Formats: sequence, structure tokens, C-alpha cells
Amino acid sequence: MLIRNVYIENATTPTDVRIVDGVFAEIAPQLVASEGEQIIEGNTNLMLPPYVEPHVHLDACLTAGTPRWNESGTLFEGVQIFSEYKQLNLLSPEDVKRRATAALRLLAAHGVQHVRGHVDVTEPTLTALEPLLEVREEVRDFIDVQLVAFPQEGILSFPNGEGLLRKAAASGVDAIGGCPHLEFTRGYGADSVRLLMDVAEEYGLLVDVHCDEIDDPDSRNLEVLAALALERGMGRRVAASHTTAMGAYPDAYAHKLINLLARSEISIISNPMVNMHLGGRFDTYPKRRGLTRVKELNNAGVPVAFGEDDLQDPWHPLGNGDMLDPVWMGVYAAQLMGYDELQDAYKFVTYNGARALGVSEGYGIRVGNPANCILLDAPNFYEVLRTHAPVTYSIRQGKIVAKTQPAQTTLYI
Ligand code: FE2
Repeated sequence: MLIRNVYIENATTPTDVRIVDGVFAEIAPQLVASEGEQIIEGNTNLMLPPYVEPHVHLDACLTAGTPRWNESGTLFEGVQIFSEYKQLNLLSPEDVKRRATAALRLLAAHGVQHVRGHVDVTEPTLTALEPLLEVREEVRDFIDVQLVAFPQEGILSFPNGEGLLRKAAASGVDAIGGCPHLEFTRGYGADSVRLLMDVAEEYGLLVDVHCDEIDDPDSRNLEVLAALALERGMGRRVAASHTTAMGAYPDAYAHKLINLLARSEISIISNPMVNMHLGGRFDTYPKRRGLTRVKELNNAGVPVAFGEDDLQDPWHPLGNGDMLDPVWMGVYAAQLMGYDELQDAYKFVTYNGARALGVSEGYGIRVGNPANCILLDAPNFYEVLRTHAPVTYSIRQGKIVAKTQPAQTTLYI
């Protein structure tokens, strides 16, 4: 396959890309097509490595409106509605499989090739786990899925929380999660972080903790996670999701914490759409943005990735699998509107996501790497953001996974 005339990652001159046997074989201008070679006209499109969706709840996705809509928009009404969903016996293995597969196809259509999905393991029968493990295998050809055992109601504050977490770990999940800010006490919060790190080490798994997803300045589990990651040399295998309390911390404490985060090498996963939507709900005015300190973390060299969190579920009625949405919200909410910041913003949903998921090896458009890439209908990422440019091609191991024809408008004025 020969892809002609593309700008790789905001390069200032276009180039051609040859793929042979599913691998990037040549990257140079004006490559000559060999006989019978498949040609894709890049038309000065931007070429990026595939999008990474580092945080989405695959067990609840695509349930928005069933059995009813979340009219207040709060996290608490969302919890209530999903509880009703379960009480009505709507959550079955078939239901989970059908919705998760549909959500992953939606993500694939938008150029996503790596996904980290969370599955609640504070549901005593673990109904959603087995079907999601099956889906992970079924979709492997078009998307890589990691599953996180997510103890949504805590580990130490939920009956048999540790047992359920260990059962999920033994069942073949990729990562261990936690929810320390929702544990009964701060002591339980810190202890739950230690416990989940122990379980991850024991089973050789990655770590991704819903950490301090609350506007409480005293919710300080992230420092525990970062310290343990540093002490155990696990930083590159650990991610902290949300960390929205950082938006409420005093500056002096945040400064100290960000230094620790940088040393620990853990990744932060922010979900700008849902954090903006659900955060600041206890504030009148001034009203917090409910977001982690993306700009400061970025400047300190702490890798930050963006995710959608919820795809059309009781907590978030929107979300369409398009990674431009969290980037769009993120650059506004985190005030990243410098030209260079806008150009670089693709890294939140590409390289930083790959780093958070531990899939950086072989990721990127370089000769010798697996031929995974996307084309976007604009020459650079600033123009992608400005024009909401769609992903025109998603290519995986040298095969076209998805193709989109950009819309065309004719003016009659
Ligand atoms: Fe989440």
C-alpha cells in the first residue's frame, strides 16, 4: 500500500508512506508506486498514529435514557438510574456484549485503535466481566481493548470488595482499579490504594485508579498512589484517572504533589467532558471547573491523556467515540489555546494515551513499526480542531479499518 502526500504529525512538508506486510516500510517524498500496489491519495491530509481512548466505562455505555433520562445531570442521579437498570434485570451478559461491541465499533469508526475500558467489580455476580472478556478477544482485529477491574463502591467499604477484586484479577483483566475517595474513611482510602497495588503486583497487572474524583481539597489519595508507584518502581505501569480534587488543592500542596508525580512517572488520565459536566456541583459561585491541573502537569512533564469516560450512559448523555470531543473540551477548560498548545493537543489522545496504557512500544509512524495510523481531513492539528476534521482513514496493520467521506457544503448565495 502506498499513501501519497500526507503531513506526518504537523510536519511542514508532505511525504509518502509505503506499507508492506502490515509494517511501515518506507517514508519519503515522491515514492514510485510498484505495479498493482494499492494507492491512497492523502491529499495533504494529516497523518497521526491511531487515537487512543484511555478511559471509558464499557459496562454502562449506550444505556442513556433507559429506564429514564438523568434530568438533574448529577453523578448521584446517574448512580440511581443505573441501579434501576440493574433492578429491572436489563443488565445481562448479552446486553453488555451487544452494547460494548457497538461502542467499540463507534470508536473504531472514529480512528481509535486502543481502548481502556472499566468494568464495575462491586456487583456481586460480576455480570459484565465475562462478556467483556469475550468482547476483548472478538474485536482484536480492529481494536485493542484493556479491561480494568473497577471497584466502583470501594474495596474496603464494600462487602467482600477484596474478594471480588481478586476474582476479577484472576479472571484475566489487564489492570486493577480503585475508588479511594469513595471509601468510608480517609484511612480506608489510603489502605485501599496499598491493597490494590499489592493485588496488581501479585498478578502482574497494570494499575488505573479512579483517584480523587471529587471537589474535596482533602481528598489526597493521589499522593499515596504516586509514592507507592515510586517506591515500588511501578510508575510506568500506573495511571491515575480523573484526579479532579487537584483543581481544589491549595497551590503549595499542588506544587509538591506535581513534583512527586513527575518523579513517580505515573500517567494522569483526565476526562474533560464528564469532569466539566459532573464537577463543581456542590459549588454555587465561584464555581470550580472540576478538572485536574492539566496545564501544570503538562508543563512539569507529567503525561496527561484525555478520555471520554462515559459514552451515552446515565452519567453522560452525549459522547460519540470521537476523540476530538475531549480534546476540544480540554483545550478550553485547561486554557491550552496557544498556537503550539493547539498543535500539540493531539498528544492527549495519541502518545500520552499510549503511554498511560503501556502500549508505547511500536506505536508511532516510523519505519519498522506496525502500520497503524489515521488520516484526518486537514493538514495539521490546529486545522483539525478549527474545522472539526473527521478521520478519513483508519489503517491497522496495513489494512483499512474505517473510511469516512468528509461532508461537502455548496453555498447558493
Ligand atoms: Fe470513570
